[in-house]
Amino acid sequence: MPSKEDDIIKNYLNNVKQLDEHNKSYYDKDSPAVSDQEYDDLKKKILETEKNHLFLKNYGSITNKIGFKPSSKFNKIKHAKPMLSLANAFDNNDINDFAKKINNYLNNTNLDLAFSLEPKIDGISASLTYKDGTLVRGLSRGDGEIGEDILDNLKTINQIPHRIKGKDIPKTLEVRGEVYIGKKNFEKIKDKFANPRNAAGGSLRQKNSLVTAKIPLNFFVYGFGKIEPFIFKKQSDFLKKINEWGFKANPHNFLAKNLKEIDSQYNKIEKIRSNLDYDIDGLVIKIDDLLLQARLGNTSNSPRWAIAYKFSSVKAITKINDIVIQVGRTGALTPVAKVEPVTVGGVVVSNATLHNEEEIIRKDIRIGDFVTIQRAGDVIPQVVSVDISKRRKQSKKFVFPTKCPCGFATIKEINPTTKKVDAIRRCPDRGYECQFIAKEKLKHFVSKDAFNIEGLGKKVIDQFWELKLIKKPSDIFNLDYKKIENLEGWGELSVKNLKIATNKSSQILLDRFIYSLGIRHIGQENAKLLSNFFVSVTELIKLFISSKRENLLKNIAELDGIGFAQLNSLKEFFSNKMNRDIVLSLIKYLKIKNSKVLNKNGKLSGKTIMFTGGLEKISRSEAKSLVEDNGGKILGNISSKLNILVVGDSKPTKSKIEKAEKVGIKIIPEVDWYKLLDI
Ligand code: IVH
Repeated sequence: MPSKEDDIIKNYLNNVKQLDEHNKSYYDKDSPAVSDQEYDDLKKKILETEKNHLFLKNYGSITNKIGFKPSSKFNKIKHAKPMLSLANAFDNNDINDFAKKINNYLNNTNLDLAFSLEPKIDGISASLTYKDGTLVRGLSRGDGEIGEDILDNLKTINQIPHRIKGKDIPKTLEVRGEVYIGKKNFEKIKDKFANPRNAAGGSLRQKNSLVTAKIPLNFFVYGFGKIEPFIFKKQSDFLKKINEWGFKANPHNFLAKNLKEIDSQYNKIEKIRSNLDYDIDGLVIKIDDLLLQARLGNTSNSPRWAIAYKFSSVKAITKINDIVIQVGRTGALTPVAKVEPVTVGGVVVSNATLHNEEEIIRKDIRIGDFVTIQRAGDVIPQVVSVDISKRRKQSKKFVFPTKCPCGFATIKEINPTTKKVDAIRRCPDRGYECQFIAKEKLKHFVSKDAFNIEGLGKKVIDQFWELKLIKKPSDIFNLDYKKIENLEGWGELSVKNLKIATNKSSQILLDRFIYSLGIRHIGQENAKLLSNFFVSVTELIKLFISSKRENLLKNIAELDGIGFAQLNSLKEFFSNKMNRDIVLSLIKYLKIKNSKVLNKNGKLSGKTIMFTGGLEKISRSEAKSLVEDNGGKILGNISSKLNILVVGDSKPTKSKIEKAEKVGIKIIPEVDWYKLLDI
C-alpha cells in the first residue's frame, strides 16, 4: 500500500511537471496555456508543499527555477570584454595574501596601494552600452563571454538612463553594474520567489518587458567594459563621474589608502548591513589605479586586481544523523555530516563538510551530536563546533575508514616541500580504476570550464552512471539515445538537445581538452601552458610513449609555472595504461583545435622568447603575459626554435646563456627588452 509520503511526492512531482509545461509555453512558445491566476496558484501550492515537507528537497527544489527559466528567445551577443567573476576572501589573512600576490606580480613590495571598497550587492549583473550618450545595448552576464540581449527589460529600470546627461561623455561607454530588488519591495512579492536575487533575475528574463516593469528593480553601477576614448585613471574617479552622468553608484563606496583601512571599513559595513534596503554579502576590494589593474590582468576566471571579501557566515544548530565519506576527483576522502535539515540564511542545509579525518579528531565530532553549522556565501556549509553537553552517554568516537569505498587501502601523502604528512586521506591516484574517482572525473569532464555540455550536469552523470550509460568519457559521444528517450524526465526534445550539445562540444580547444582530463595539479592555467607547449594533440599523446616521455617531461619541467607536483602528476597519469586507453578511445570522437590565437600584428608576432634570471621592473608572470599580448610565444628550453633569450639582471643561468651563444640565438639584456616593448 502506498504510504502518505509516497502520495505527497507523487502529487508534488505531478504539479512540478505541470508548471514546467506552463513555463515552456509561456517563456518559449509565447502562448500561455493557463491564466496568470491559475499559474500563480500552482506555483504557490508547490512552494507551500516544499516548505511543509522538507524531504521533498531530495527531488530538487523548484524554488530556484520557477519564473526564471531563461527564454531561448533572447538573442545571444558576445561581450566586448568578458564579464569575469571574483575570487573570495574570508578573513584578514586572505586579504593580506591578496595584497602580497599583487606586490609579487608587480615585482614591487613598496607600492602604496589604494583600494576601492564597494558593497557587493547580491543581485544580477548587467552591461549597458551607450553610443554618443544613447543607450543602445543591454546584456545579461550570460556565461561571462556571451550575454543575452535584455535591453528592453533593462530600459524599464528607473535608475538606468536612456540618455546620459553631463560633460565628457565618451563616444562608446559600456557600464557594468548590479540589478537588484530592494528588501521592502521584495516583501510584496516574496511568495513567488525564493530570495531577492532570484526575483531580480526572474524579472529581468521576462519575455514581456511590461512584466519586468511591474517589478521595481534598481541598478548600481560598479564598473565598466569598453570605454572609448578612455578618460579615467582611477576606479574611484569613474565611480564619481557615474553619478554626474545620471547613474547611481553605491553611496557606501569608499577609497582605502591601506590594508588597515580595509579592515575598519569592512567592520563598519558589516554592522550596518542589516539596515540597508538590499542584500549584500561582502565588500569588493579593487586596486584603485587603473593602469595597475591593466598590468595585473586576469587569471582564467577572475581579475588579479580585485577580490570579494565575504562577510562572516550565518549559523544554525542542528543534529548529525550520519557521517558519510565522499571520494573526490583526486581521490581525497572527505567526511560529510548528514544533518537534520535546517534553514541557514534562507537556504535549507542537510549536508555539512567535516573537511578531513584530523578535523573530526580535533573537534571529536560524532554521529548523534548537536552541532553549530555555518554557511558563508556560496561555499559548502561547515560544522563549527559541537555542543558536548547535549551528547548522549552511549555515543562513540567516529572511526575514520582506512579504506576507500572502492576497497583499496588509502594513503596520506607527504608534502615534498614541508615534509609534513598531509591531513587528507586519499585513495591512491588510480584514476578510472576506482569507480568513485571515475564518477567524479566524469563530472569534471562535463563541467563549465571543460567540455561544458549543456544538459549534462552532475545529476545527469549520476543518473547515467547508475544506468551504466556513461562509465568513461568516450561513452558521452556514443550514447544510447533510444534508451535515454524512454527514461523518466527525458523526452524527444531533451534527447535532441543533448545530441546537439554533445556534438557541439566535440570540437574543443586543446587547453580545455587537457584541463578536462582532470589530471591532478593541472588546472586551467597549467593546461594553457601545456597546450602552448604541445600545440597539437598528436604531440601531447607522445607522453604515452615511454621512450619519449622522459625527454618531454624534462622540457616541460623548464616551463615557468610547472613544478614538482605537476611533473609527478603528469608522469603518473601518462604512465597509466587505463588512462591511455581512455584518452585514445576518446579522441576518436573529437576535433581538437590548437588553442592559442596569437596576435598576428604584435611587436613579437611569430617570435619565440625565453627568460633567464629575475627581471628588475616586472615579475616573470607579467613578462610572460606581455610576450603573449604582443603575439610572441614563450619557450621553456633553448633550441634552434628559440629566437630571443632575455637575460634578467638578477642571477641569470650561465649555462643557458652559453648554450644560446652556441646555437647562435639573439641574446638581449633586460634594458633592451624594455626598449623592445616600449615599457
Ligand atoms: S566587480 C571583474 N564590483 O559580483 C570584476 N562586482 O562575483 C567583477 N558584484 O558578477 C565584478 N557588486 O555581479 C564587482 N562592486 C562590485 C560588485 C560586483 C556586486 C557582483 C557582480 C559580479 C559578481 C562577481
